[in-house]
Amino acid sequence: MTTTVITGIAELVTNDPARADEGGLLGLLTDAAVVVEGSRIAWVGPAAEAPDADLQVDAGGRAVIPGFVDSHSHLVFAGDRSAEFEARMTGETYTAGGIRTTVARTRAATDEQLTSHVARLVAEMRAQGTTSLEIKSGYGLSVHDEARSLAVAAQFTSETTFLGAHVVPADTTPEDYVALVTGPMLAAAAPHARWIDVFCEDGAFDVDQARAILAAGSDIGLRGRLHANQLTYGGGVQLACELGLAAVDHCTFLADDDVSALAASGTIATLLPGVEFSTRQPYPDARGLLDAGVRVALASDCNPGSCFTSSMALCIALAVREMRLSPAEALHAATAMGAAALDRDDVGVLAPGKAADLVLLDAPSYVHLAYRPGVPLVAGVWQAGRPTV
Ligand code: NIG
Ligand code: FE
Repeated sequence: MTTTVITGIAELVTNDPARADEGGLLGLLTDAAVVVEGSRIAWVGPAAEAPDADLQVDAGGRAVIPGFVDSHSHLVFAGDRSAEFEARMTGETYTAGGIRTTVARTRAATDEQLTSHVARLVAEMRAQGTTSLEIKSGYGLSVHDEARSLAVAAQFTSETTFLGAHVVPADTTPEDYVALVTGPMLAAAAPHARWIDVFCEDGAFDVDQARAILAAGSDIGLRGRLHANQLTYGGGVQLACELGLAAVDHCTFLADDDVSALAASGTIATLLPGVEFSTRQPYPDARGLLDAGVRVALASDCNPGSCFTSSMALCIALAVREMRLSPAEALHAATAMGAAALDRDDVGVLAPGKAADLVLLDAPSYVHLAYRPGVPLVAGVWQAGRPTV
């Protein structure tokens, strides 16, 4: 197998806990090298000790980080909601009611149109340093349209999530719809999905409905995750912790009990600051969560309604500037913790045996991700050992 050594790395973020003593949270190494063999990392260490390899790449005194792990996105949709965004920016409030607009457009799109739209967004993400991503369904809301949304998503990632329980479609009752989601829709979706998710919120699904939907998914082998506490206080976060879900996402409106439940559980709180940025909502108390011992991830939530960004660098910049994470905490949350939120230990960390998913920054330090908001800083991306950008 061909080996490549990347030298000239001024600053290498490994996220390797074995390097925490000297390298802190990010397992930082300066003046470092990485050897890639096939799709995996073969060696990481000081440049002076780097072994020979078949090929050599010079990072030119720039920083290398693990590729971003975006653990929450809704990429399978058609149309856009720029008019809704414009109305919001001139005074309207975000209610999630616009989801039904996207459902109508998505149902009307062909498989080819959906696939090429997802391909475009995935390429947009990769060019910005995202090497692992989760994709949800949730704009089909019929047996046929949820199953085909997931089949499209599965062409781009193994981290596919069935979100039939996004909202109740206009032409049915909540009771009938929950029966559909937990019955025929789940059966049609399951072959294409690894996860099941529910939008647990006033106006979407309540805690009892979420519990029933997650239980049905679990019975058929899908792992649970949850949208909760985005727009109001409620019981979603507590449910996620009680069930030991991998992640509960949004966590914008949290009571003290929610924070202590998260701290006592293994459930990751995935914060999506692009949503607050795009809906003019207050940001979640990320600082309070970390200080309470909660494990926090950052993700984009890329979707046509509440947040149409694919930029993890923007999420990092927002987390640092608006939610008082340190630049190191924010980058860790966007990589290693994103991986943990997907229950993955092969990505988000640069260590021997892990996936060779690396990003070369056009900057000497990872700090520039937050220090230079809005500036494209990705100079190169390797995914599974192959240069893709
Ligand atoms: O994560 N909260 C529910 N779902 C998406 C928004 C979907 C939409 O508005 O189209 C979210 O914010
Ligand atoms: Fe979402």
